[in-house]
Amino acid sequence: MKKFLVDDTEYYARAEGDGPIMLFAHGFPFDSRLFAPVVERLRSRFFCVVPDLRGFGMTKLGANGHNPNGLPRVKMGRYADDLAILVSEIACQRRQKNAKIILCGLSMGGYIALAFARRRPERLAGVVFCDSNAVQDSPEKATERRLLADTITSLQIPTLADEMIPNLVAPETPIKQPDVVANLRDIIASQSPEAIAAGARGMAKRSDSTETLGQLAAPTLVLGGEFDKLSTPESLDAIAAQIPDATRATIPHAGHVPPLENPDAFVDAILKWYDAKVQYAG
Ligand code: MLT
Repeated sequence: MKKFLVDDTEYYARAEGDGPIMLFAHGFPFDSRLFAPVVERLRSRFFCVVPDLRGFGMTKLGANGHNPNGLPRVKMGRYADDLAILVSEIACQRRQKNAKIILCGLSMGGYIALAFARRRPERLAGVVFCDSNAVQDSPEKATERRLLADTITSLQIPTLADEMIPNLVAPETPIKQPDVVANLRDIIASQSPEAIAAGARGMAKRSDSTETLGQLAAPTLVLGGEFDKLSTPESLDAIAAQIPDATRATIPHAGHVPPLENPDAFVDAILKWYDAKVQYAG
């Protein structure tokens, strides 16, 4: 992992490979390890930048990861601003100051990708929108997230992981790929209560991004697992229909976390789309 100064914190990120910059934004409550198997396969075609988002993994929450009352909270726009700073820094280091990027966001990372697209549309050569949605939380969901944020402790995080996992993976994954489930459990169980509280409060606060879908100017790939219960194939079809230049693909044998459950199909879908629609030389 490399270290980058971003706003008031240090972001830890994998930054490796050759080619145009592909920036990854992970879901909640994960970290950069979510994308490890796909980076192994994409690094020969792209310079892959895979951060632990503010508070998660090795990246500290920082003062700006709190709300005015001092409680952990990171809004989607804050994560997106962090990513814009990170990518500018990396582009400068590579002597490609204004380089465009491919932004791949999964679930919460998809919410962040839409916030990024509103703020920095000129920076995007393409978007990979995975297992996510564009609507804001229902009042009940927002309340549930705030309750989680207010009560979560280190001791409860392994239980949280066990409760979440059945909704995160395809029914076949625990049987056919128990190692994937164990890895996912480790990733969730290693997050701090502050990171979880910050992300949960940030997601509860996010606004509706449906309009942004129609304004996405860069080619966009809408991807999702065949058995994703949180972002169903039908809901992703509806999202793709609202994006002007969208390609739609479904990843077989996967639920909400296809980069871990079926990395080969995830990478194939990205490369097929990229070669057909983006062809950006970086
Ligand atoms: C994620 O994977 O990031 C979460 O499912 C997002 C959410 O809780 O809305």
